[in-house]
Amino acid sequence: MKWIDFEAKSAEEILAWAVPKFGSRLGLASSFGMEDMVLIDMISKMNAPVTVFTLDTGRLHEETYATMEKARSRYGIEIKSYFPKSADVETLVSTKGFYSFRESIENRKECCAIRKMEPLSRALSELDAWMTGLRREQSVTRTDIPKAGPDLNNLHLVKLNPLADWTEDQVKAYIEKHEVPVNPLHQRNFPSIGCAPCTRAIEPGEDIRSGRWWWENPEHKECGLHRPK
Ligand code: ADX
Ligand code: SF4
Repeated sequence: MKWIDFEAKSAEEILAWAVPKFGSRLGLASSFGMEDMVLIDMISKMNAPVTVFTLDTGRLHEETYATMEKARSRYGIEIKSYFPKSADVETLVSTKGFYSFRESIENRKECCAIRKMEPLSRALSELDAWMTGLRREQSVTRTDIPKAGPDLNNLHLVKLNPLADWTEDQVKAYIEKHEVPVNPLHQRNFPSIGCAPCTRAIEPGEDIRSGRWWWENPEHKECGLHRPK
């Protein structure tokens, strides 16, 4: 099957292909936003041995930890947490302070590199394929993401975005139908879940990701997790 053929497949069909092929070497990257909760619900319904992992930057919202705990108990899954290297965080905050990411895009990327990118590379080193809750309508930087293909930053890995063509309404309808637990921040107008100091609620009509790094231009708003190098 060619990668382009996955574009006609549903999220469940993509999972039905990936789960037997990769087993526990398939990872689900979860920030415990609503898209990731949909994927957790889907893999749990399939009894799939997928490795659910999270990058715990040390700056997450309390509500996000509560959602992780809810996911653990509701679905009986193990959540693998990857923390940043303590020495790197210690050097960062002692030399640049606790909010260096507000001072420049370079500083923000430095913080994301230490707190997200390095832990992600460790997580991916244990996998053959990973999936995300990325959707095309989330951002100008995401309009052409494929549903499946090689991970352009790690060519030995397959990257799956089973919800790439889902709308926000479809995500919400799935959550309602299957009574999926969700991060309480969504009820407070946080459509996108990130680190607490870099994420805020949005106003009605604002862009979905306008609450992330709101002091930067939309085309810079990727932390590197999904930006081709
Ligand atoms: S980000 O790159 O700006 O942080 P976003 O928050 O939109 O990404 O999330 C997109 C997808 O990236 C999520 O559905 C999830 O698969 C993955 N992701 C984002 N943040 C994390 C995290 N802290 N831990 C694990 N996966 C994450
Ligand atoms: Fe640091 Fe903010 Fe990036 Fe989190 S989102 S890693 S706090 S810059």
